[in-house]
Amino acid sequence: MPPTITATDRPLEKTPADAVVVGVGKGPSGPLPTPGAEAVDRLLGGRLMSALADLGARGNPDEVTRLSSLGQGPFPVVAAVGLGAPEATGGYSAEAVRRAAGAASRALSGRGSVVTLLAAVGGAPDAERLHAVGEGALLGAYEFTAYKSDLPADRPAPPREVTVVVPDAGAAKAPLVRVRAVADAVALVRDLVNTPPNDLFPAELAARGAEAGKAAGLSVEVLDEDDLVAGGYGGVLAVGSGSVRGPRLLRLTYSGKKARKKVALVGKGITFDSGGLSIKPAQNMHHMTSDMAGAAAVIATVCLVSRLGLPVEVTATVPMAENLPSGTAYRPADVVTFRNGKKAEITNTDAEGRVVLADAIARAAEDSPDVLLETSTLTGAQLVALGSRTAGVMGSDDLRDAVVAASRRSGEPMWPMPLPEELRRGIDSPIADFVNANADRMGGMLVGAHFLAEFVPAGLPWAHIDIAGPSYNTGAPWGYTPKGGTGVPVRTLLATIEDLLTG
Ligand code: BES
Ligand code: MN
Ligand code: ZN
Repeated sequence: MPPTITATDRPLEKTPADAVVVGVGKGPSGPLPTPGAEAVDRLLGGRLMSALADLGARGNPDEVTRLSSLGQGPFPVVAAVGLGAPEATGGYSAEAVRRAAGAASRALSGRGSVVTLLAAVGGAPDAERLHAVGEGALLGAYEFTAYKSDLPADRPAPPREVTVVVPDAGAAKAPLVRVRAVADAVALVRDLVNTPPNDLFPAELAARGAEAGKAAGLSVEVLDEDDLVAGGYGGVLAVGSGSVRGPRLLRLTYSGKKARKKVALVGKGITFDSGGLSIKPAQNMHHMTSDMAGAAAVIATVCLVSRLGLPVEVTATVPMAENLPSGTAYRPADVVTFRNGKKAEITNTDAEGRVVLADAIARAAEDSPDVLLETSTLTGAQLVALGSRTAGVMGSDDLRDAVVAASRRSGEPMWPMPLPEELRRGIDSPIADFVNANADRMGGMLVGAHFLAEFVPAGLPWAHIDIAGPSYNTGAPWGYTPKGGTGVPVRTLLATIEDLLTG
C-alpha cells in the first residue's frame, strides 16, 4: 500500500511521528541549516547542526543522517537529508527537494509515520514546492513485492503516513490531491514495468490497460489479431507473429469537458524484446522486460489526465507485441505493409519498436489531433548518446522544445536532439519505401526518429521521447528512483499537456 499524505499547520511539538525529516544543504565546510530545520533545532537546544557535523553529515544528495531526539520532541528520530549545494540565489531547486524527500522515504523503512519539514526549505512553500515534497516522499516509498513469497509482517516497510508541515494546511489541500494522483500514476507504470513478461504478455497488458482506463472513466477499445488483420496493421502483426501470445492494439480516450486541445499519445508496448530472429546477446536480455515502459506511461498518463479533469481530449494508442524468434516469426528480408500503406524492408528484427509504432502513429494521426506525443524504449543508441538518466527528445522543433521545457519542471532529465537531414539516407531501401534498421550505428537514436517521422502527417506537431535508459533503473536506487521501473516520462507528459492548455 502506498503511504497516505496530508498537511498540517500545527507546531512540531504537537505533531507526533516515528521520525521527522529536515533538509540540510552542502556548505564549503560542512552541512548548512535550512529554514525548515529551525523548529527541530530549537527543540534540540540549538545543537542540531553541531550534532550533524559530529556524525559526518556533509549535505550531499542522497545522504541521510539519523540522530536520536533524546526525548526532546514527540518523535524518536530526526533524519537530516542532504540537498546538495545551494543555488546562486541561496535556495534549492524543486528537484533537489524532490530527490531529498525520496531519499528520506527510502532511508526511513520501518518508521510507520513520518513528518517532513522539507516544504519550508525555500521559505514559504508554493504549489510547486509542495508537489516536489509530496511526489518525492511518495515515489521514494514505492516498493514492488508482488513476487516475494514469505514477506514477514514485521519487516521494515516504507513509511505508511507522510505529514507535510506547512504554514496553511487549507492551502496545501489542492496541491496534495495532485501529488496523490501523480504518485498513483507513476506507481502504475512501475508496477507494469516490473511485472515479468511471462505474466505480462500483450493480451494481459491490454487487459490491465483497459481495466485502468475503465476505472478512470475512459472509453476503451482493444483490437485483437483478427481486428489487426482487418485494419491493415501489418507492422504490429509482423512483430507479434513470432509469439504464440498474439499482439494487440489498445486505445484509451478521455474526452474532457470544454476540451481546448486534442492530444494523441503513442507508447511502445513490446512486452518482451528478445530481438527476434536477429536475436540479442544473453547478457542483458532480461532487461527487455521493460520494453513496454512507453506503453505503460501513456496508459497511466491518459488515466491521470482524466483523474485531474483537465479540459483536453486525449487518446492513447498503444501497440503491443512480444518479439520472439520462432518458425512463425517475421524475418530479416521480409517486407511489411503498414496501416497507411507504406512499406518497410526488414533488415533487423530487433528494430521492432519502430515497426509497431509506425502502425500506431498512422492510426493516431487519423483522428486529426493537434499534437502527437510518442514515447518508447526505442534505441540502445539513446544510452550511448545521453547515458542512463537523460531521455532524448526529437520531433518538430517547437513541440520538442516544449517537452524539454516541461521536463525541467517535472524533474525527468531530457535533452533536445536534431534530425539531421543526411541521416535519413540511412533507411533508404533498394526495394521498399525504407528499411527498418540502418546498416551502420552512427546516430542510431536519430535514425530511429527519422523512421517514425515517415508516419507523421506533414504539419502535425510531434515529439518522440526515447526513454531506453531513463525508464528502467538497472543500478542502485537514488533520490526517489527505485531499482527497476522508474515511471519516466509520465510526469513530463502531464506537464507538457498542462502547458499546451495554458501556454
Ligand atoms: N528495445 C530495444 C532498445 C533498448 C536497448 C532499450 C537497451 C533499452 C535498453 C530496441 O528494440 C532495439 O533493440 N533497438 C536496436 C535497434 C537497432 C537494431 C537499429 C538497438 O538499439 O540496438
Ligand atoms: Mn529490439
Ligand atoms: Zn525493443
